[in-house]
Amino acid sequence: MSSFKPLVFSGVQPTGNLHLGNYLGAIRKFVALQESHDCIYCVVDLHSITAQLVHDDLPGQTRAITAAFLASGIDPKKHIVFNQSRVSQHAELAWIFNCVARIGWMNRMTQFKDKAGKDRENASLGLLAYPSLMAADILVYRATHVPVGDDQKQHLELTRDIAAKFNNDFSQKIGELGLGVEMQAGDETVNGYFPLTEPLIDGPATRVMSLRDGTKKMSKSDPSDLSRINLTDDADAISKKIKKAKTDPEPLPSELGGLKDRPEAENLVGIYAALSETSREQVIAEFGGRQFSVFKPALAELAVEKLAPVAAEMRRISADRAYVDAVLRDGGERASAIAERTMKDVRDIIGLLDD
Ligand code: TYM
Repeated sequence: MSSFKPLVFSGVQPTGNLHLGNYLGAIRKFVALQESHDCIYCVVDLHSITAQLVHDDLPGQTRAITAAFLASGIDPKKHIVFNQSRVSQHAELAWIFNCVARIGWMNRMTQFKDKAGKDRENASLGLLAYPSLMAADILVYRATHVPVGDDQKQHLELTRDIAAKFNNDFSQKIGELGLGVEMQAGDETVNGYFPLTEPLIDGPATRVMSLRDGTKKMSKSDPSDLSRINLTDDADAISKKIKKAKTDPEPLPSELGGLKDRPEAENLVGIYAALSETSREQVIAEFGGRQFSVFKPALAELAVEKLAPVAAEMRRISADRAYVDAVLRDGGERASAIAERTMKDVRDIIGLLDD
């Protein structure tokens, strides 16, 4: 009995500037996973039109995220980098998942509630169905592992629910066609066509918070640019934003527990730990008892050292549009080949004639 081949998939939306949260929570993990896994990394342009259909420069944003992937160290030859809309099987599987998932499941998504705001009736249908497209992104490759920040956890639980319901609804047909794969679901061994994907959410920076308010997530949509460090910021901007970051008047605690109820301090310690590839404990061991007037310049120096080269490389790669486009085209072709194999099986399982 075979089991699923480990495969990593993740996606980033081409909306607004990439920031430190995207970098530490996701992209840096994408880079590390290349050593141990086959990886597929996607610029999810179809997701970006769910909240807002018309964008000033969607092609430019898509290329900028691609350049960020490459500048961070993703290897598009050994792995796959492409933009979602090029591989139409994502949208095709999403439609099928719209018929698997229940409206109640979608209505419970906190991201939908946040993004739709008070006037839910006026949100696009795409915004409601967003997690179904996300499940399709992952499952069209039958990916087993998905590195993301903490804010995507609920969407990945839903992805597992969709996979489990599909496997269950079609279990007989999957068996008849010999397409079942054995997998572990908790203590049980089950058989199904889609894997129950594992989220990879770990380390000290799964939820990087705003530099202006430690209780709010660092986000592309925050109106204050001082709230986030953009991957395109130069050394001066990075230093300025860290020096202006909100803090409390106390020195850093000498025990980790002392960060409780100090969200800004906790956030900066987490950022330092992630950038220096250590743990919060180690940062506290080094800086416990020190004032922010000592810690902030150390953090600014570290952030500049780690991020400025990525920004410079991003600028260099972005200047070569033909290269970026060639990466996306090649990645799209290789992704399509895998996705089409899945869709052929799915059409057979459901009973959609396609030959
Ligand atoms: P997006 O584009 O909002 O964010 C990209 C990645 O960055 C992470 N992230 C953060 N991590 C830590 N701290 C933060 N403040 C922070 N802000 C963002 C996100 O968790 C994400 O990993 N729905 C996804 C895109 C997507 C996707 C997928 C991801 C579409 N299909 C399939 C994985 C698999 C999103 O909007 O991410």
